[in-house]
Amino acid sequence: MIVRFRLNGESVVQVVKPNETLLDVLRDRIKLHSVKKGCDEGLCGTCTVILNGVPVRSCLMLAVQANDADIITVEGLAKLGTLSEIQQAFLEKNGFQCGFCTSGMMLTAKVLLDSNPKPSLDDIKDAFDGQLCRCTGYEQIIESVQRAAELRTAKK
Ligand code: FES
Ligand code: FES
Repeated sequence: MIVRFRLNGESVVQVVKPNETLLDVLRDRIKLHSVKKGCDEGLCGTCTVILNGVPVRSCLMLAVQANDADIITVEGLAKLGTLSEIQQAFLEKNGFQCGFCTSGMMLTAKVLLDSNPKPSLDDIKDAFDGQLCRCTGYEQIIESVQRAAELRTAKK
């Protein structure tokens, strides 16, 4: 089957199997290895991408369901080689260690801050519910999101 979508602003056309997940197409066909395969059953959030403005678990979605969609991965956060506020904040606050969960965390942060520029602690915890990290204990991730909100506000 042929599937067409926009990936970080670029048009993509792929021939896929009907049962192929979006995760497998992104990783195995397009070689976008920033999208991580963790549990492969919807439990960890490492495979999160933004699809039409919503964070989705790409392991739970068939590639054909992404036809005509706008997809953003972590590569879509930086503009012209400049880190986004979210990436800058994760660097400043040590929001990652091994980095396996980080793409999904940053994309979840983007969706949260795009709709809620000044999230409360509870807002952040709610948004990241189900995004698993084995390394950081989550404190640095929460601080990174709070810092990203500050950087975005300062830029306006
Ligand atoms: S790999 Fe998709 S949720 Fe874990
Ligand atoms: S930084 Fe290692 S899993 Fe989150």
